[in-house]
Amino acid sequence: MGFILAAAGSAVGLGNIWKFPYLAGENGGAAFVLIYLLCILILGLPIMIAEIVIGRHTEKNPVGAFRTIGGGRWVIVGYMGVMTGFLIMTYYSVVGGWTMGYMIKSLSGTISSISSTRMSEDIFSAFIQDPLQMLAYHSLFISATVFIVYRGISNGIEKWTTILMPILFIIILILIARSVTLPGAAKGLSFYLMPDFSKITTKVIIEALGQCFFSLSLGMGAMITYGSYLSRKEKILSSALQIVFLDTLAAFLVGLAIFPALFAVGMTPEKGPGLTFNVLPVVFSKMPYGSVFSTLFFMLLFIAALTSSISLVQVVVSYATDEWGWSRRKAALSTGAAILLLGIPAALSFGAMKDVKIFLGNTYFDFMDKVTTIYMLPIGGLLIAICLGWKYGLNNTMHELDPDTNNVLLERIWALSIKYIAPLLLVAIIGYFGIYSMVK
Ligand code: PHE
Repeated sequence: MGFILAAAGSAVGLGNIWKFPYLAGENGGAAFVLIYLLCILILGLPIMIAEIVIGRHTEKNPVGAFRTIGGGRWVIVGYMGVMTGFLIMTYYSVVGGWTMGYMIKSLSGTISSISSTRMSEDIFSAFIQDPLQMLAYHSLFISATVFIVYRGISNGIEKWTTILMPILFIIILILIARSVTLPGAAKGLSFYLMPDFSKITTKVIIEALGQCFFSLSLGMGAMITYGSYLSRKEKILSSALQIVFLDTLAAFLVGLAIFPALFAVGMTPEKGPGLTFNVLPVVFSKMPYGSVFSTLFFMLLFIAALTSSISLVQVVVSYATDEWGWSRRKAALSTGAAILLLGIPAALSFGAMKDVKIFLGNTYFDFMDKVTTIYMLPIGGLLIAICLGWKYGLNNTMHELDPDTNNVLLERIWALSIKYIAPLLLVAIIGYFGIYSMVK
């Protein structure tokens, strides 16, 4: 029980509610959704199982795990995971801060006073351009995360989420009901649900793949770390299925709440990282008890973000405590301090540092977001599959799936995916995109 909760808590977060909708919006809507679902099924699910298997088999943090199953240079995969977790946190914490800011805005009545699309957009852009608020909320968010990790109270938080997450789902359902009944919503439904196959481009494929890893918390060892705490009695296949299903459902429902409203109020889907924060307040303002719902929604989103950021920081902290012998306190506080500092340029990327482009016209925020999601996580996933499937060999770990013996067929399919399908597909997609983006 504890494991599924923690893993689902890690998976469901800003990735589902903030990132998925804006990526879908930028990448042709339903075409993106379709490719995303395929990625989840063909790559996400098998790699989720692989990470949990590695974790439970080795009972170690990602670096220790790769030392055991790969040895030699394979530990680099573990280091890369720790690094990726750290880099994701530098901007995840900034968006986590946005959820806190919007909680306050809901409480103070700003959200319910929104009377036009324009007003919602103005509120958001003034907010993210304000250096003081951005830095303050970023600091608060990372402090909250570090506090929980260092006090070792994530268990308590996860128990709370059993009560809180269903409420988040209910609010999303209420939002969907409001959204699809707005005049002009039908256009949004068809944008989100009727794939236009001509929209499937290399960019759509690579971004859907990256989002699949990001949303399921794969490719950097979070699930290895959680798997290492998983009891031998638990069934890995069915746990993985449950986590993947919940995470995908959450993302899908959020899209259903956002796109009908977006078209109804006349926004464009290519809004980028501000999409959710621009659209949902308009929907709340058009609902009875809007400020109650929006306060609850942003509070629950904050908690969902927190249970994900805990898992990101936990990977870094468990590495420092296991490998360097640091105390939990020292590890958590130093990790937090480093994220706080390296997150400053991300916090200022929409205001003071908007024009500071660090690579191919990207702000620091965009760069960190893209590099981790599009490259680091899928490459991590590829190396995980190769190390487990070829270096260590599946025969050594197949017994981890034993309690699930009624699923022999699933076990075989999984083995096939990890050895052949996942590595080949990942090499093809990452390789093609690498070359393609260089030529462009
Ligand atoms: N899956 C989390 C989310 O969707 C983010 C995350 C990515 C967490 C990678 C851990 C590892 O918000």
